[in-house]
Amino acid sequence: MIVTIDGPSGAGKSSAARLLAERLGFDFLDTGAMFRAVTLAVLRAKVNLTDQDALAQLLDSIRLDLPAGKVLLDGEDVTGLIRTPEITAASGPIAGSPLVRRRLAEWQRRIAAGRSVVCEGRDQGTVVFPEAQCKFFLSADPLERARRRHRELCESGATLTLEEVLQSQEARDRRDAARAIAPMVPAAAAILLDSTALSLDQVVARMEEEVRRRLNSPLTTCAAPDSEPRTQ
Ligand code: DC
Repeated sequence: MIVTIDGPSGAGKSSAARLLAERLGFDFLDTGAMFRAVTLAVLRAKVNLTDQDALAQLLDSIRLDLPAGKVLLDGEDVTGLIRTPEITAASGPIAGSPLVRRRLAEWQRRIAAGRSVVCEGRDQGTVVFPEAQCKFFLSADPLERARRRHRELCESGATLTLEEVLQSQEARDRRDAARAIAPMVPAAAAILLDSTALSLDQVVARMEEEVRRRLNSPLTTCAAPDSEPRTQ
C-alpha cells in the first residue's frame, strides 16, 4: 500500500510520515531529502541548470541511498549537509527542473515498487503515485510553520530571524504552488489536515485511523481520481 503526504514545508510532514510509517510497519520515503541531495550534487559539480546534457549526465552518474534516517550521496553521508539554508534556497530552482523531477519520480517509483511505503513531498499524490490508496495534504498556518522551522534552525546553530524564515518560506510556498510542473496542490481525493492546533501525535493518530480503515476494508480501492479533496 502507498500512503502519500504532501504539503508545504513546516507543516510537519516529515515527522508525521516517519511516525506513521513506524506505527504501520511501512517504509518511509522522504522525497525532499532526495531533491536536497541532488541539489548538493548539482552545486558541487557546478552544473548549469540550463545545460540539459550536463544535468542528465550528472543524474546518470550519481547514486542516492536512503538507509534508515540517512542520506548517502555516492556513499558519502550527507544527511546534515543537505539541511543548510544554502541547500534549502538552491533546491527551489532544481525542483523546478522537469528533467530532475522526471528522474526523481522514476527513482521514487522504483524504491516503492512492491513495498508498503509512506511517501512525503509535494507531488507524491498528484504525480508520482496518483494511484496511492491513501492521500493526505498536510498544511498549517504560515506563521506557525515559520516558528517551527525557526526553532529547528536555532537548535542547529543558525542565526536567522523569524521574519527572515517567514519571508523565505512564503517565497518557497509561492514557487512550489505556482511551478508549471508538479505544482504543490492537494491531490484529488486527498484528505486535508491542518496541523496548526494539533500535536504530532494527534496528526498521526488521524492518519493512522484512516489508513487502517482502508487496510481493513475488503473494498479498498485507489482513491477516485476525480473526487474532490476533503477536509477533516
Ligand atoms: O520538503 P523539503 O523542504 O525537504 O524539500 C526540499 C525541496 O524539494 C523544496 O524546494 C521542495 C522540493 N520538493 C519537491 O519539489 N517535490 C517533492 N516531492 C519534495 C520536495
